[in-house]
Amino acid sequence: MSLFRTKSVEQSIQDTEEPGHRLRRDLSALDLVIFGVGVIIGTGIFVLTGQVAKDKAGPAVAISFILAAVVCGLAALCYAEFASTVPVAGSAYTFSYATLGEFPAWIIGWDLILELALGAAVVSVGWAGYAASLLDDMGITLPASISNPPGEGGTVNIPAILLVLAVTAVLVLGIKITSRVNAAVVAIKVSIVLLVIIAGLFFIKADNYTPFIPPSQSTPSVEGMHAPLMQVLFGITPVSFGWLGIFAAVALVFFAYIGFDIVATAAEESRRPQRDMPIGLIGSLAITATLYAAVSLVVVGMQNYKQLSTDAPLADAFKAAGRSGFATVISIGAVVGLTTVVLILLLGQSRVFFAMSRDGLMPPWLSAVHPRFGTPYRSTIIMGVIVAALAGFIPLSKLAELVNIGTLFAFVVVSVGVVILRRTRPELPRAFRTPMVPLTPILSVLACLFVMLNLPVDTWLRFLAWMAVGVLIYFGYGRRHSRLGLDRAGAKAP
Ligand code: ALA
Repeated sequence: MSLFRTKSVEQSIQDTEEPGHRLRRDLSALDLVIFGVGVIIGTGIFVLTGQVAKDKAGPAVAISFILAAVVCGLAALCYAEFASTVPVAGSAYTFSYATLGEFPAWIIGWDLILELALGAAVVSVGWAGYAASLLDDMGITLPASISNPPGEGGTVNIPAILLVLAVTAVLVLGIKITSRVNAAVVAIKVSIVLLVIIAGLFFIKADNYTPFIPPSQSTPSVEGMHAPLMQVLFGITPVSFGWLGIFAAVALVFFAYIGFDIVATAAEESRRPQRDMPIGLIGSLAITATLYAAVSLVVVGMQNYKQLSTDAPLADAFKAAGRSGFATVISIGAVVGLTTVVLILLLGQSRVFFAMSRDGLMPPWLSAVHPRFGTPYRSTIIMGVIVAALAGFIPLSKLAELVNIGTLFAFVVVSVGVVILRRTRPELPRAFRTPMVPLTPILSVLACLFVMLNLPVDTWLRFLAWMAVGVLIYFGYGRRHSRLGLDRAGAKAP
């Protein structure tokens, strides 16, 4: 049964007070919302909108964005209760350790690497694409060999590597610098999104909205291993467009919301987690959902969905309308804006590693805090180097779906965990209570599973392979080095 040994909530909170492993508590509610918006708005809206409208949903991509927001909203209600009850670094990992037990917690920690580290690599590749095209606009053309990974016409993606290493340096220097840099960038990013919405309104052509939901049809993007699991399981002919296309699109645009949950990983650095966590989580989600729905409606109104560009759809819609000036400003905003996404994904990753190493499931030297900067510098630097290598040498554009499935799996576990913690520890003070338990968590689990089923078969296979590696590592290292396990063994010894 030791696989399911749980770490008490009190123990988790007490560990945060341990000298040498303590993080600084200096984030406010506003910092958390900015933090959330900073990581949420990124590749999803700047890049995926075009691809998804063109391949899967047509002008109805706005419906997909709204449905994805509902799925995330249900999960956010669960995250908010957890983060306000267990305000400790590590997010879903910590929550699972307190409820489901050590092995499920390890599985989640391992799974979160897909969301955070792989997500950071994917976004930095997207950033590098925008950076290269901006340089191109300025007359500086980077050779493909140093701006594309092997398999995509190059040898190494130098801009992506440089971005990840620069972001890592900022993180090592400390959380205060991080949140200040972030606040400035978020302001620029939100302004750019608002610019698209307001300026774009003047270029909308009503014709582009008909048909709003194009009739379903089979396309190469949904054939073979790329077919959604649900359609393969139930023997439905895979199609794009129509309502099935809109659902398949939800599984892709979901990427655009990834990040609100990362606010929970900063619980240990928040001044008043009980009050501020729910504000940070739900606030950042509500703001971005509104912006996404508006942006996608405007963009498919500006240009016929079949003509949308798949690299820079927002900027290119303005170019198509003969407004290149706007397009350049939007591209600059994307380059600046995607930086903070990488920043916060990496921050979240280093904090999850920190929590796992503090618990002995990863080597303990990883969780030492820098004496001057007060940051877990070792885990930050190691992850930074790994992510830089991934971004530089592996064609990651196709792996965004793997990021989604990993994140959705974590949402499922957190939603289940809320119900379990209500049963096992009903007396714990909960500053924020998920409404209508168990209905909300059940709906959250069902919604996430539905979205997961809409992901392609090859994504499922990669996900299962990654998790199998995690299981091997747990039995090879974590199980024997777990602090909880060692403490209990010590307590039992004569
Ligand atoms: N939500 C983030 C993005 O869209 C990960 O890039």
